[in-house]
Amino acid sequence: MKNIENGGTNSNVKSGSRTDSAVDFGHVSVKKVNSMARPLIEWFLGCQRKHLPWRKTKDPYRIWISELMLQQTRVEQAIPYYRRFLKAFPTLPRLAMANQSAVLKVWEGLGYYRRAKYAHEAARIVLKDYRGKLPNNYDDLRALPGFGPYTAAAVMSIAYGKPYAALDGNASRVLSRLFILQEDPTTADAKRRRTEILQGMMRGSDPSTFTQALIELGALLCSPRSPRCSECPIQESCSAFRYLPDPAVLPIRKERKKKPHYNVSAGILERDGRILLKKRPNTGLLANFWEFPGGKQLANRSREETCRIRFKSETGIEIRITDKICVVKHEFTHFRITVHFYTVACQKSPSPKGTARWIRKGSLKRLPFNLVSKAGLEAYERKK
Ligand code: ADE
Repeated sequence: MKNIENGGTNSNVKSGSRTDSAVDFGHVSVKKVNSMARPLIEWFLGCQRKHLPWRKTKDPYRIWISELMLQQTRVEQAIPYYRRFLKAFPTLPRLAMANQSAVLKVWEGLGYYRRAKYAHEAARIVLKDYRGKLPNNYDDLRALPGFGPYTAAAVMSIAYGKPYAALDGNASRVLSRLFILQEDPTTADAKRRRTEILQGMMRGSDPSTFTQALIELGALLCSPRSPRCSECPIQESCSAFRYLPDPAVLPIRKERKKKPHYNVSAGILERDGRILLKKRPNTGLLANFWEFPGGKQLANRSREETCRIRFKSETGIEIRITDKICVVKHEFTHFRITVHFYTVACQKSPSPKGTARWIRKGSLKRLPFNLVSKAGLEAYERKK
């Protein structure tokens, strides 16, 4: 694919010079950059999804929580979580003063739990250092746990109305097509350039509306696989629409590496109305979540033997397998697992070692579980 606009150079901006737009957009035309915000915003005001609860507020705390949830989660899935979270923690100080387990519990099922941990840590810092109000300053936001360039810019623009370009996957895809940007969008250079282009595009408009309009365009029309170009408000400015047989070839996607897969065996041990659970370490994947003792498949051992050996090494308790309960598959960011759940029995009610604890069944609903452990527990309850 060849660069098309201006034959790969830019006639309005000299390379490296500071012009009206103050940046060098390479082959991207400054005139075009400046002409897109208005039709985009007009379209947004008429066509946006009206039921999104975070669109009804400018409260920086609420905007922050919505952006955090929406980073890895689809809008329709995020809505009930957003409502539940803000019911439990309606203000930033309330979040800061909650205990971490209660925060994880409300986030349970949404995945990427580091987001919840960071939200909690950041809220504590904001309560201590900024009297409970999120700072109205990009650098101060960036210094808080979990505030990457996107989240900080989204809060600055959507909540505070400041011209910070929030470059997420949606915005980046739209830019790839508008200007036929062919580089890998995930590199630092590509992100910097795209952020500058966005900054140019939003100049002169209300940053809050602009940021949301671009996200909406990416979500509703300029979708990854089947863009609806005939309905697009900036179709006339879009180079991919004008010059490419299929705009969906952009952005250029890197081939995904196949994720490794692990088999895991875990045991469900119940005695006298209590279940043996293990708390995960307070750092790393699923930090501080509770799960059934077990572990990765051992070489040259059966699944049942793996369950017995791993159970013993995590809890110090000798068990025997009594039944197979279910098999649960799950995909994490960097790997996939298949967990084989067994019911198990032991001799007496021994004291467990490490972070394993006997938990009363009535207390289970207060503890945070990941989706896999929750599915195992539900299958166990159904089978009993
Ligand atoms: N994805 C990321 N931020 C969003 C927002 N504010 N509205 C809808 N989808 C989003």
